[in-house]
Amino acid sequence: MRKFLASKWAKVVVFVLSLGPLLFLMWRAVQGDLTANPVEFLNHQTGDWALRFLVFTLCITPFRKIFDLPELIRFRRMLGLFAFFYVCLHFLTYLGPDQNFDLKGMWKDVAKIPYITVGFTAFVLLIPLAITSTAGWIRRLGGKRWQALHRAVYACAALGAVHYYWRVKSDIRKPVFYGALVAILLVWRMGTRLLKKRAPVVARTSPVQTS
Ligand code: HEM
Repeated sequence: MRKFLASKWAKVVVFVLSLGPLLFLMWRAVQGDLTANPVEFLNHQTGDWALRFLVFTLCITPFRKIFDLPELIRFRRMLGLFAFFYVCLHFLTYLGPDQNFDLKGMWKDVAKIPYITVGFTAFVLLIPLAITSTAGWIRRLGGKRWQALHRAVYACAALGAVHYYWRVKSDIRKPVFYGALVAILLVWRMGTRLLKKRAPVVARTSPVQTS
C-alpha cells in the first residue's frame, strides 16, 4: 500500500478518479440524459462534488496520522484544487445559464439571498488558497504563515455546508451530514494542535527530561 501511495501512478489514479464526476456529467450530457432541468442538475452535481472534495481534502491529515500513512500528503493539494475546480464549475452553472453572465444580477443575489452570500464567501475564500497552493508560494510565505492561511479551508467547508443547509427546503439530512463531518474534522485538528502545544511542557516536566 505504502509503495503504491508513494509511486507516481498513485497520483495518476487519484487524478483520473477526481475527474470521474466531470466525465460522468459529460457522458450524461452526450446521452442527452441531464434530467428535465439540466442546469439545475449540473448546478447540484457540481455543488455536491465541490463539498465532497473539500471534505476529502480535510480528511488527509487525520487519515495520515490515524492510519500512519504519511504518503497521503502527496494528494492533498490535488484534492484541494479539484474542490476549487468543481466550485468554479458550480459557480459557472449559476452565472451562465442562471444569470446570463449578468454580474449586476449576481451581486443582487449575493447581497439579498443568504445562502448565495455564504456560498459566494466560501468561493472567494478559496481563491487565495488555490493560488498559493504551489511550492513557490509556501517558500514565499514561509511554512507557518502558509499553514495559517490554508487553515481557512475549514471555514470554506463549513460555509459550504451552511450554504447547502440554507438552500434545502425540507430534507436537511445531507447538509447536516456534511456539517457534522466538517465539525468532527475541525475538533480533531484543534485537539491534536492543543496536544502538540502541551507536549513540550510535559516533556520538560517529565522525569526522563529533568533527570
Ligand atoms: C465553496 C463554495 C460552494 C460550495 C461547497 C457549494 C455547494 C453547494 C451544494 C452542495 C449545493 C446543493 C446541491 C444539491 O442540492 O444537491 C449548492 C446549491 C447551489 N449553489 Fe452552491 N456552493 C458553493 C458556492 C456557490 C456560489 C459561489 C454560488 C453562486 C454565486 C452558488 C450557488 C448555488 C445555487 C444557485 C444552488 C442551487 C439552488 C437551488 O437549486 O435551489 N454556490 N451549492
